[in-house]
Amino acid sequence: MKILILGINGFIGSNLTKSILKNTDWDVSGLDIQQETVEKLLENKKLTFKSGCINKEKKWVLEQINMADVVIPLTAIATPMSYIKDPISVFQSVFEANMWVVKECARLGRRIIFPSTSEVYGMCDDASFHEQNSSLVLGPIHKERWIYSCSKQLLDRVIWAYGKDGLPFTLFRPFNWIGYGQDNNNKGTSRLIPQFLGNILRNEPLQLVDGGKQRRSFTDISDGIDALIRIIRNENGEANGKIFNIGNPNNNASIIDVSNMLMAALNVYPEYKYLANNIQIKSVTKEEFYGSGYQDVQQRIPDICNIQEALKWAPSVSLEQSIENIVRHTFYNIGNKEIQRTSLKVG
Ligand code: UGA
Repeated sequence: MKILILGINGFIGSNLTKSILKNTDWDVSGLDIQQETVEKLLENKKLTFKSGCINKEKKWVLEQINMADVVIPLTAIATPMSYIKDPISVFQSVFEANMWVVKECARLGRRIIFPSTSEVYGMCDDASFHEQNSSLVLGPIHKERWIYSCSKQLLDRVIWAYGKDGLPFTLFRPFNWIGYGQDNNNKGTSRLIPQFLGNILRNEPLQLVDGGKQRRSFTDISDGIDALIRIIRNENGEANGKIFNIGNPNNNASIIDVSNMLMAALNVYPEYKYLANNIQIKSVTKEEFYGSGYQDVQQRIPDICNIQEALKWAPSVSLEQSIENIVRHTFYNIGNKEIQRTSLKVG
């Protein structure tokens, strides 16, 4: 089987590629503007890597779509701060670039596995979100936070409509996938856990938006990749024409819980206790943190019956384990020197 992954260097793309190359005999070709996370894989003969941007490499992408059995377009800007600060770039990267890929897959009859998002459910107040039964609830236009969700939702609807005309597809909705290497702990633009890690490394306070009582269902990247491999394998065609939530309802935790777990995970290492002891926590309003274009989701629990039934998948990694893994990789593997360089007041 030949898999085309657009955005191969990203968090999902790089972890998926590692797993495919390690555990299957599938060939992968991938495109990305960056390559540091897949650098070590480039010598693998089963991987073809092209450096470049999807908008400038359409000829190459088209050739690859033609040769592929499965197309997985992962290019996107997926950080809420960007939805508010740069909504047009989010629309271009999420909607426009992918719309072209969807149309080409439809024209050529190639199977597409498309990353929808938990964000499509928006502020739906169902106790858990179901692919067929839950409404997709977004705020007004001047709340730019919803441009990502809205772009993804429209693509879901377009793919669904092409599916009626024969496009083979599966839509998957990641629910707060987390793991080592996400968003590179970039200052100010990362998602929650890399944002907190960056804060700790830069000796800044952790900021709880509106007090941090809002909750997410965090999913370890290894569980997410296991689900994706099952979707690609598609035994008995069970993934055809389906939408799957991929999340861990058992890992439903508040932002306060996450900050406590991070501190507990750091405390395990005698040499990093000083970091845990030095962490300051403060509450900030959503306007202070994100600006006026933000609205939050208070609770986001996936109903995963569909994927459990169709693909016999269930998540297995607890949030505590996941956070311990991330902390071990981030703080332990990079070593004391790095921490002392990046953290101002060390013990
Ligand atoms: C994310 C992103 O939109 C996407 O990556 C993705 O599609 C989806 O949800 C998902 O991963 O399922 P969100 O969960 O709001 O959205 O993203 P985070 O930036 O990780 O924020 C989680 C919560 O933590 C929010 O309530 C946010 O306000 C809060 N937060 C974030 C803080 O309290 N402090 C921070 O420093 C950062």
